[in-house]
Amino acid sequence: MISRQFPSPLPELKIKNITMRVPIIQGGMGIGLSSYTLAGAVAREGGMGVLSSAGLDRIVSKRHGKKLNARDAAAQDVRDAKKMGDNGVIGMNVMVAVINQYEDSVLGSMDGGVDAIISGAGLPMALPEIVKSHPRSNEVALIPIVSSGRAMEVILRRWKRSDRLPDAVIVEGPLAGGHIAWRTVEDALDPKHHLNILLKEVLDVVKNWGNIPVIAAGGVYTHEDIWESLDMGCGGVQMGTRFLATYESGANANYKKLLVDCKEDDIELAAKPGSPCGMLFRVIKQSPFYQQALVRERAPKCDKGYLLNKGNCPSKFENEKTFCICNGLLAAIEMNNQNEKELYTVGHNAFRINRIMSVQELMAELQGLPVPLDMVVPLEIRPQSNEALEKLRI
Ligand SMILES: Cc1cc2nc3c(=O)[nH]c(=O)nc-3n(C[C@H](O)[C@H](O)[C@H](O)COP(=O)(O)O)c2cc1C
Repeated sequence: MISRQFPSPLPELKIKNITMRVPIIQGGMGIGLSSYTLAGAVAREGGMGVLSSAGLDRIVSKRHGKKLNARDAAAQDVRDAKKMGDNGVIGMNVMVAVINQYEDSVLGSMDGGVDAIISGAGLPMALPEIVKSHPRSNEVALIPIVSSGRAMEVILRRWKRSDRLPDAVIVEGPLAGGHIAWRTVEDALDPKHHLNILLKEVLDVVKNWGNIPVIAAGGVYTHEDIWESLDMGCGGVQMGTRFLATYESGANANYKKLLVDCKEDDIELAAKPGSPCGMLFRVIKQSPFYQQALVRERAPKCDKGYLLNKGNCPSKFENEKTFCICNGLLAAIEMNNQNEKELYTVGHNAFRINRIMSVQELMAELQGLPVPLDMVVPLEIRPQSNEALEKLRI
C-alpha cells in the first residue's frame, strides 16, 4: 500500500507515438455528448479528447450545412476537434454495436487525422484488419474497451493473428455511464465485478504481452481516485460523467440541470425495458423518454438504423423489452425534430455532481492544481450552447 500526500503531480501517459501531458482520457459519449467542443477543450488541456462516431452523419451534416456520409462526417468531426483543441490528442470512440457504420467510422476518423481509435460495446475483433489497408495504420493507436481479463485474453489472441496488439486497453467497471458489460443488475452489482478486481485481472493478463498501458474507467471521480488507479499499476484513467457535466459537453440544458439535481436513488440500470444492445444501460430515471418507455407508451419505432445489423433493431418491432436509445439520445442533444422525448444516460456517480464547470477548471481540479480565479467562467458569459461556445473559442 503506497501512502501518498495529496495533491500529487500526475505523470504523463504514453500510448504508441502519443504523449499526453495529463493521463486522463475523456470517455467517448454518444450520441453527440462528447462533442468536438468537449473533446477539443480536453485536448487543449493536455488530456485525450474523445469523440463518439454514433450519429455523426446527422450531427456533422447539420453543423456544416451539407450532407455528409458516415466516413466523411467522422473525418470532419476529427478535424473540427483538432482545430478546437490546438492540435492536441483526439480519439474516436467507435461502438461495435453500431455495426452498419463501424468500418466507415474507423476509416473516416483516420482520414481526418485521429490519434486513437477506442472501441467497445462488443468485442472489437475486426479492428486490426479494418485499419490495415489505411495509409495511417501505423500512426493510429488502437484501444479496445474490456470488462474482464477473459475478454482481454480473447482480444489479444485474435489480434495477434493480424500482427497487431492493442496499444493500450480501457477496463470499464460497473459504475460507468452508457452501456455496461453485464446483462443483469445482480451480476453488475456482484462484488467480484468491482473495478479494482477487474483491473487486477487485466493487469495480470497484459503483463505477459509486453507494454500495454491499462486505463481505469467507471466511477473515477477525484484526483485521489486517479492516484488509486495509478498506484495499482494503471497508466491513466478514462472519465465520462465528470466531462458530461461541463459547459463544453453536447448535453442540452435539461440534461445538465438533472445531472446537478439528481440523487443516488434517481440513477438506475435500465434492463427491461432496456437497451436494444442487450447490455444494461444506466439512466437518470426521470428522463422523459425512459418514463414513457416504462409504461410502454411509446410505440415501437426505429427510423435511425444505427444499431445492430441492417437497422434491424428490436425496438423497431416491440416496446416490452427494449426502447430506442438512438431517438432518445438524439433528442437530448436537440437533434431530433420527430417529437421524441429526451433520454439521459450517466455514470453511477452523477449524483455527486453539484455544478456545471468548464473543462479548464475540471482538468485543474483533477490534477490537484489550484484553480485560478480567472479560470472560473463568470456567470454572465457562461455559454449555454455549443453555438455560444464556438463564438468564444474559434
Ligand atoms: C453520457 C454517457 C455516454 C456514454 N456513451 C458511450 C459510448 O457511446 N461508447 C462507449 O464506449 N462508452 C460510452 N460511455 C462510457 C464512457 O466513455 C466512460 O467509459 C464511462 O462513463 C466512465 O465512467 P464514469 O462516467 O464514471 O467516469 C458513456 C458514458 C456516459 C456518461
